[in-house]
Amino acid sequence: MKIGIIGLGFVGLSFASVLSSKGFDIVGIDVDIKKLETIKSGKSPFYEPKIEETLQKGLEKKLMLSEKIEYAVNNCDLIFVTVGTPMTSDGNIDLRIILNACKKIGEALLKTQNKPDIIIKSTVIPGTTINKIKRKLELKSLKKEGEGFTLITNPEFLREGRAIEDTKNPHLIIIGTSRKKSAEKLKNFYEKIYGKKIPIIITNNTTAEIIKYANNSFLATKISFINNIANLCQTLPGTNVDIVAKAIGIDPRIGQQFLNACPGYGGSCLPKDVQAMMIFQKNLGEESVLLNAVHQTNILQIDKIINLIEKSVGNLKNKQITILGLSFKEESDDIRESTSIKLIEILLKKQAKISVHDPKAIENTKTIFGDKISYHSKIKDALNNSHCTVIMTPWKQYSNLKNSDFDVMLKKIIIDTRRILNLNDNNLTYVGLGMGS
Ligand code: UGA
Repeated sequence: MKIGIIGLGFVGLSFASVLSSKGFDIVGIDVDIKKLETIKSGKSPFYEPKIEETLQKGLEKKLMLSEKIEYAVNNCDLIFVTVGTPMTSDGNIDLRIILNACKKIGEALLKTQNKPDIIIKSTVIPGTTINKIKRKLELKSLKKEGEGFTLITNPEFLREGRAIEDTKNPHLIIIGTSRKKSAEKLKNFYEKIYGKKIPIIITNNTTAEIIKYANNSFLATKISFINNIANLCQTLPGTNVDIVAKAIGIDPRIGQQFLNACPGYGGSCLPKDVQAMMIFQKNLGEESVLLNAVHQTNILQIDKIINLIEKSVGNLKNKQITILGLSFKEESDDIRESTSIKLIEILLKKQAKISVHDPKAIENTKTIFGDKISYHSKIKDALNNSHCTVIMTPWKQYSNLKNSDFDVMLKKIIIDTRRILNLNDNNLTYVGLGMGS
């Protein structure tokens, strides 16, 4: 069985690398020739733990790469579509990339006898697979879904920073289609990879699409909820949000995960999906008061961090502020919707001088701020002469920092938005987000 994967971003490249490293016959497709060359040489276009070693194993086995969608359409039994569905400036979901890919798939279907299953992994708003993707494919191929091809919705749940691990060990597989035979075929395929231990839910396309949005919206809700509690704890001396989170998380109805208070959730998924869901519901005449509050709580969280900095440092003009961590989460170089970027923008407006450190995201950050801020590959250099240090991303190396590491600062004020430091120096002002003092 030959498998095509169209779009080699986080999801597509992780999936292609893991499957080919296990010996599956894979063709990875991407329109970006430069990206394809990088991948062919065994390098990943982005930082992701374990991806390069997995990719290299795949290249040694059965991973082929091409820019030609028609190659996949002519030769593959299963074609996974894993292209990006980014956010437009008004919070809507931008379907241009996926519809363009489907146009090319449809045009290739017109000229082939092959009848592949086309499996949509990209996140799309409920109804998109049936109302837009199916229509586009049928229009271009002049074939009916269920006859010349079938269409399955198969959302992905992997996390950046753990993409390979999650691809190897998914917690759940959703198969959305009204075609029983195709659902069974995809189920068998997944069982060949993962065995029978992973729950597989078979449903229709639109329910599968809703599951993806419900999942990400619920995760975002948990974070905004705990941020709300963190802001409460901040005002109550002696309280600590992490102890509250640990306690409520023991209740099995709540669970421990996604209760780490933060300066706001970021990344290319949660902010985008919450907003897209809000707009989708609003367009149906069903405004989501809950998701609106989740989103607003998230936006306002950065103001809490600014307040903490100003309360400790005073007027920020010409003060040097050190930001530790630029990526939206640890083990990633991705700065999309990163709260660190938003924080720097606000601090620059307040005429602070910014020095930054991040183990992986410096190059991406340079494309936004150029020479407006100073970049450091060593934490000590970023801290030098600083009036205040703000820990934004919970990289492991920051949690290992000791009292003496901060001696190079002009004023030893540390704002720890992730509460990862364990310092006990009386000459140092330590402010933990969600820790009332
Ligand atoms: C998220 C989901 O977790 C994945 O299941 C999903 O597949 C993915 O979106 C997607 O739709 O593609 P991801 O964006 O990679 O994954 O990152 P998360 O681990 O969810 O973190 C998102 C943000 O929330 C980060 O800024 C992180 O620091 C923050 N976060 C997460 C917290 O502040 N506290 C927590 O307890 C957990």
